[in-house]
Amino acid sequence: MSKDRKSLAVYPGSFDPITNGHLDIIARGLSVFDEVIIAILINPEKHPLFTVDERLAIIREAFHGDPRVRMDTFSGLLVDYAEKVGASVIVRGLRAVSDFEYEFQMALMNRRLNPHIETVFMMPAEGYSYLSSRLVKEVFQLGGRVSELVPPVVERRLREKWAK
Ligand code: PNS
Repeated sequence: MSKDRKSLAVYPGSFDPITNGHLDIIARGLSVFDEVIIAILINPEKHPLFTVDERLAIIREAFHGDPRVRMDTFSGLLVDYAEKVGASVIVRGLRAVSDFEYEFQMALMNRRLNPHIETVFMMPAEGYSYLSSRLVKEVFQLGGRVSELVPPVVERRLREKWAK
């Protein structure tokens, strides 16, 4: 059966920085959808370690030219962004039960805001169930090893950041 339109999913988040848990979810997303847009929220209220441009550059390097993965930034409502780019699916990762309540609230609010956009939850490999960008930054800053938790470009960028 041939498909006229490619299925497109948005994978939104802060990605400060992207971790192997995020990469795992993106790979799973690509096993279901033709294309995934990694959409970085521009949030002036947060004080990220990496600027939006740095996060975009990191993600670009991590995927070096995979045509099925696009990267972008957005501000405002996620559902408005998804509609603008023509995506009918939002992908979110669920690591543990502790993620569920917040994700459930967001998914239902997004559905209320735009019932045509569906949220799809994907579970990362068990080994990433405790992994978060916040912990990666903390562990790295305190001298712990993060090489199995993030792509090489992130480890390099973390080193550069703290060398400054
Ligand atoms: O990686 P994060 O910080 O958990 O991602 C949260 C994100 C970006 C998915 C969420 O904050 C978001 O969608 N923000 C956009 C604003 C919006 O649409 N708010 C209403 C959603 S309930």
